Amino acid sequence: MGLTGLFLITFLIVHCSINAMIFFNDGGETFNHWAHFMGSNLIIRIMEIGLFLGLILHIIQGLVLTLQNNKARPIKYAKNNASSNSKWYSRSMGLLGTLILIFLIIHLYHFWTPSRFGGMWGIHELQETTLSTYTNQPVHDLYAEMQKVFEGNLLIVIIYVLGVFSLGWHLLHGFQSAFQTFGINHKRYTPIIKVVGIAFSIIVPLVFALMPVAIYCGWVS
Ligand code: HEM
Repeated sequence: MGLTGLFLITFLIVHCSINAMIFFNDGGETFNHWAHFMGSNLIIRIMEIGLFLGLILHIIQGLVLTLQNNKARPIKYAKNNASSNSKWYSRSMGLLGTLILIFLIIHLYHFWTPSRFGGMWGIHELQETTLSTYTNQPVHDLYAEMQKVFEGNLLIVIIYVLGVFSLGWHLLHGFQSAFQTFGINHKRYTPIIKVVGIAFSIIVPLVFALMPVAIYCGWVS
């Protein structure tokens, strides 16, 4: 779980950094260019298969772990003061993971399926293309797609904010837990990992949440 979790964390860093280019306020030019690079580069497309396999594996591992935990103690404690030795989010990883999965299904339907399979099986196509100022080649206008998804669509914006909020709580436990799985328990480094984990779990979801909110409120153009 730790390994697939760290792999997914790496994906989040790349995804968040590229998407944050919409804040350059250049009509999405830089963002579209790099999103196109990510979508068309052969090596990254191969890594994308790894990403989805990693995601599926992470979900299966989570389910197996939950089943094993339940099996280890089929008869529940008569009195269990769980909050005295663990945080609620560490006990709710399954629930948080399920909320993220629901968010992901909606999210992939919005952006990934039209960009990869648009027009096939009746999935709506990304109509808009724009010329990259970097290569002068036509690229999918994913920025226009973002505007289409979020502008005037408060419900979708709320779903996205709740989705990344769940992601933040999930990471708060998951980040540090991944390092613990590898047996990294060091007097000096563990407190540093904890601080980095907390900062990551707050900053990345916050930047993600700002994207739909900023587009909805017209803060980026
Ligand atoms: C909340 C703000 C977010 C926005 C505006 C956003 C936007 C996008 C866009 C435009 C794409 C399509 C990229 C392409 O076709 O090349 C995409 C793909 C994707 N997003 Fe997001 N995303 C957000 C958050 C997230 C989060 C929090 C996750 C994970 C928990 C996530 C997971 C994915 C995955 C797995 C893909 C497909 C992978 C790929 O393109 O290779 N996204 N997103």
